[in-house]
Amino acid sequence: MTTFAIQNQTRVQLSQGDWLDRCAALAARSVDMLYVDPPFNTGSAKRSGEHAFEDSWPDTQSYIRWLGQRLEATLPALKSSANLLIHVDWRTSHRVRVLLDELLGEDRFVNQLVWSYGLGGSSPRRFARKHDDILYYCIDPNAYWFDPPLVPATSRKMSGQHKKSTDVLSIPSINNMAHERVGWPTQKPLALLELLIGACCPPGGTVLDPCCGSGTTLLAAARLQRSAIGFDRSSEAIALTQRRLAEFRACSSSDDLEQSDTTNEPTPDS
Ligand SMILES: C[S@@+](CC[C@H](N)C(=O)[O-])C[C@H]1O[C@@H](n2cnc3c(N)ncnc32)[C@H](O)[C@@H]1O
Repeated sequence: MTTFAIQNQTRVQLSQGDWLDRCAALAARSVDMLYVDPPFNTGSAKRSGEHAFEDSWPDTQSYIRWLGQRLEATLPALKSSANLLIHVDWRTSHRVRVLLDELLGEDRFVNQLVWSYGLGGSSPRRFARKHDDILYYCIDPNAYWFDPPLVPATSRKMSGQHKKSTDVLSIPSINNMAHERVGWPTQKPLALLELLIGACCPPGGTVLDPCCGSGTTLLAAARLQRSAIGFDRSSEAIALTQRRLAEFRACSSSDDLEQSDTTNEPTPDS
């Protein structure tokens, strides 16, 4: 495990391995927000340049079993005020929503967020698919933490002002020339994760991303002074995340920065 001390009390812990194995070592009731952007079961490996990850299950049922087993094993680590955001797309969002209803209870559903990203091709045979679904559930409907994010108002009457965001988040996906692009397939934009974390994790709280890829969630958390824990089974993903966090730490003005390589066992509670 690698621990980055970013600023003040903000720490980012990073560990290579399977989500299922790694989450067993999480301290009970230590996490404020779970964000997962798992493989979507597209049926083929996702590639970008020299990087790739597997994204294929024999059928939807086995994908749902894989996801359900890991989500269930993670629940003990979540605080009663915690939020869960599961990022999926048209292939499985209907099935994952049923899974979450069964795992948590229908009354724990908060939002079906639509991430409308714009870029990409179109089809002569159907409406162009231009959004992902982020299923937002809580642990306790009476105790979950939420700070409504503000976005620029679009009406002429409110021109120049901000309003509370709807459940449609219009944020462009990362274009090929973007400075933040690090080359991990399906890398998500920092702007999306910053909006979600600002809304769903209290200041000073802890975000868990067990399929962290290039570390977008962890970097967004650090930028917002939240601690974060990340797992990924790919050593390449972990290396990219380490690089992004090291660059951020180098740019931060704090004196008390450090990085420690500790054991291979995740001990995010320590
Ligand atoms: C959609 S990508 C995440 C992208 C990430 N949000 C970003 O912005 O870079 C899914 C990630 O899940 C990882 N993954 C797949 N199976 C895993 C498992 N069982 N445990 C941990 N990570 C896994 C893959 O290596 C991949 O990096």
